[in-house]
Amino acid sequence: MKPTQSLLITGGTGSFGTKMLQYLIKLPLDQCPGRIVVLSRDEEKQFSQRCNFPDQRIKYIIGDIRDSKTCISAMEGIDIVMHAAALKQVPTGESFPLEIVKTNVLGTNNLVEAAEICGVKKFIILSTDKAVYPINVYGMSKALAEKIIVAAAGKNFAKGKGTIYSVVRYGNIIGSRGSVIPLFVKQIKEKKELTVTDASMTRFLFAKSQAIALVLHVVESAKQGRIYVKKSPACTIDTLIKALELHYALRIKRRQIGIRPGEKIHETLITAEENMRAKEEKCAFDNTPVTTIRSYFECEIVPDIDVISRYAKAFLPANSDFTSKDTKLLNPKETLSLLKEGYSL
Ligand SMILES: NC(=O)c1ccc[n+]([C@@H]2O[C@H](COP(=O)([O-])OP(=O)(O)OC[C@H]3O[C@@H](n4cnc5c(N)ncnc54)[C@H](OP(=O)(O)O)[C@@H]3O)[C@@H](O)[C@H]2O)c1
Repeated sequence: MKPTQSLLITGGTGSFGTKMLQYLIKLPLDQCPGRIVVLSRDEEKQFSQRCNFPDQRIKYIIGDIRDSKTCISAMEGIDIVMHAAALKQVPTGESFPLEIVKTNVLGTNNLVEAAEICGVKKFIILSTDKAVYPINVYGMSKALAEKIIVAAAGKNFAKGKGTIYSVVRYGNIIGSRGSVIPLFVKQIKEKKELTVTDASMTRFLFAKSQAIALVLHVVESAKQGRIYVKKSPACTIDTLIKALELHYALRIKRRQIGIRPGEKIHETLITAEENMRAKEEKCAFDNTPVTTIRSYFECEIVPDIDVISRYAKAFLPANSDFTSKDTKLLNPKETLSLLKEGYSL
């Protein structure tokens, strides 16, 4: 990004937004956007962020993405949008589905309409593995949000101009707000037993720094309507606990509480159908592979000669979805070193 550009981060006070701001303001002046707008609702979080990052380039707007007028005024003069605002607690969604729809689905639509009105150049939404074969309200809302983005991309693809829309999809960010790692660490520090849903459950593990690299890669190389995914390793909850036992040199007591409403045993990052439209490219930041899933409209217009063989490959094996049980499963030592990279234990 350049100092002549303006960036809007919706949900800029959340786990992702905070890490992104921290990264951007440390960049050399000629690589950081000259204006970074944070849009979120809670003044307290904005106040503490303002204190943590006293930087004239960051502007704060209190507002709710459910309000279309707020979205338009936040987007005035903006070149790039990173849309991170969301309600993301799975159990909350099961109890208050309409609230999740209002923020994650209708809020995303408001932002897309605002991007069209304000002539935004690139719009990136953060999505989740829970949007793939969704079984909970949060996942369903993010699946619909992805569809809103891809539909907007389809319209501009047909016109050959307008905002470029892309999706970045990843699994669990290590140590993000409300996730299991901070909960386990708190329980260990308070000498309580760990509340375990199901020890055999697997989850993708993704460091915040990897999320930042992936989003910045997409800012540089976004193509209309594509979904960008990083194939990550995973671990079981049992392995995660063993990793924490290694770190704290303790044998930790567990209490089985059973799977929570809306939870899956294993997650999927890429479906077999998406795999047929997927290509690997190199991340511009760390040269690691990034999977990019092309949209139906791109595949129709730019047919891929490999598509038939990929179709065969996708459906011949019993399971060609990319899931958290089939990816590389980390052992406790590997899990611990990834945890240390992404979270202060
Ligand atoms: N964390 C993960 O493991 C993970 C994994 C995959 C994808 N993602 C996706 O990544 C994005 C960012 O996640 P995160 O971990 O940074 O979430 P987070 O820490 O919970 O932050 C969410 C942000 O959204 C804001 N927000 C919520 N509702 C809003 C609304 N109606 N209007 C404006 N702002 C609103 C919150 O601030 P206020 O409450 O002050 O409004 C906060 O700044 C989300 O879209 C999530 O779905 C996260």
